[in-house]
Amino acid sequence: MKQAQRVIPLSRPYLDDREEELVLEVLRSGHLSLGPMVPRFEAAFAGRVRAPYAAAVSSGTTGLHLAVRIAGIRAGDDVITSPFSFVASANCIRYEGARPVFADIDRQTLNLDPAAVEAAITDRTRAILAVDMFGYPSELDELRAICERHGLKLIEDACEALGAEYKGRPLGSHGHLTVFAFYPNKQMTTGEGGIVTTGSAEELELLVSLRNQGRADTDGWLDHSRFGFNYRQSDVHAAIGVAQLERLDVLLSLRAQAAARYAELLEPVDGVSTLLADDEDHRRSWFVYVVKLAPGIKRDRVIERLEEQGIQSRPYVPCIHLQRYMREDYGFREWMFPVAEDTSRRTLALPFYSTIDREDQERVVEAIRNAIA
Ligand SMILES: Cc1ncc(COP(=O)(O)O)c(C=O)c1O
Repeated sequence: MKQAQRVIPLSRPYLDDREEELVLEVLRSGHLSLGPMVPRFEAAFAGRVRAPYAAAVSSGTTGLHLAVRIAGIRAGDDVITSPFSFVASANCIRYEGARPVFADIDRQTLNLDPAAVEAAITDRTRAILAVDMFGYPSELDELRAICERHGLKLIEDACEALGAEYKGRPLGSHGHLTVFAFYPNKQMTTGEGGIVTTGSAEELELLVSLRNQGRADTDGWLDHSRFGFNYRQSDVHAAIGVAQLERLDVLLSLRAQAAARYAELLEPVDGVSTLLADDEDHRRSWFVYVVKLAPGIKRDRVIERLEEQGIQSRPYVPCIHLQRYMREDYGFREWMFPVAEDTSRRTLALPFYSTIDREDQERVVEAIRNAIA
């Protein structure tokens, strides 16, 4: 009988004694929410990404919702965003009754193409929601210039990009509302969680109030100055975050090393191309390892062949406008955003995490080589 091979998972968090120690500290303190661990996490995070202010929330999605709300987006408004992203970056626009308007992406960066964004602007456009896909920074200067010309707000979904840098400065330090996420497949995790950074004290005040049922600093316990939400992060989650942040540089560097190993191993494999390399202005933070298959290679077949050998992989990501509910609600059709769609039909995420070793990466690449031969 053929022996089952050890499974190589798509992702895996790196957790250690320090996470246990800090989580225990919270549990023993009895202060599980609204305690001191959340501000400690926020201060450490803001320091790491050089953000003036940071507010922790319960997920990247809830952070995005607050960002959209604070940007003043209302029912009847349009927000321009990328169709090549995880659904949350478009859903958050809908939470406020506004409409996501998609613009195509750049074939190289896989982020919003500024020229396509400008072409999509109408009288109803109020904001641009840029997504740093696969950890690659968006064209912030060009997008900001478009926002200034047209009186729009800029929101950045950096949920996949903690540690990335644009023009020598970390994402999160550029002043506009920027959202990060900490699901366990991310560069660092809190289990579930997110954080929003801003350069504005006023926006911070709103973030802190809106995530906590609309209470203001000056409100009594059951007084609520505004209509809000419960998007708080618990101290248990923040404790995991503090421990992970202490090790973030190591995690990022292990991921960069693993990405470099994949690039080297895949270099001689015909039919598989890798993501855009860094340049002077853009420094990617490695979130997932995605490859693009040449036209004609059957991706489903490759996924199946990898699976047979215990190797997980996923089509990543399907275009948002082609999700069933988006087609039904807005009448989106195929080939409205050709670059995004062509990319999305050919991209494949391979097993990738900070502790993946060379031997497993060699197994993955060998399996791909055989699958496309
Ligand atoms: C681009 C992007 N935006 C938003 C999110 C949502 O984050 P969360 O799962 O923490 O709500 C994710 C997470 O996978 C993401 O990749």
